[in-house]
Amino acid sequence: MERTFAIIKPDAVKKGVTGQILARIEAAGFRLCGMRMIHMSKAEAEGFYYVHKARPFFGGLTDFMSSGPCVVMCLEAPDAIKKWRDLMGATDPAKAEPGTLRKDFGASIDNNATHGSDAPETAAFELGYFFRGMEL
Ligand code: CMP
Repeated sequence: MERTFAIIKPDAVKKGVTGQILARIEAAGFRLCGMRMIHMSKAEAEGFYYVHKARPFFGGLTDFMSSGPCVVMCLEAPDAIKKWRDLMGATDPAKAEPGTLRKDFGASIDNNATHGSDAPETAAFELGYFFRGMEL
């Protein structure tokens, strides 16, 4: 079993598709082992995305992620990191495969509906950023 960290981003929550995304997560066979709705401050979003701090999109990304509530989750499944990235699809919804979450619910590379960890070390950092051990 593996655990990964996932976010339903502010654009998807605002559009009212949180329930549809959760249904797709459950239908895909993930176990939801932690979930919370939060509204990140700008500083919290900057801390979460610190690996991107030198990138030109960092300011816009952290403004967007602190613009409204999002849903943070811990998902468990065999090979959960890859399985969740496959379900999300490519970062840019325009390049995502049909049937993926970003294709179906994302509008642009900035407003792309969901986030997922890209490696075990990232998953450990990201889960620890939002959840205490006893919550999972
Ligand atoms: P996410 O998986 O949350 O990780 C970083 C986010 O930055 C990414 O999704 C995109 O929403 C956003 N982003 C904006 N521009 C880019 C870019 N050129 N490359 C990668 N990510 C980008």
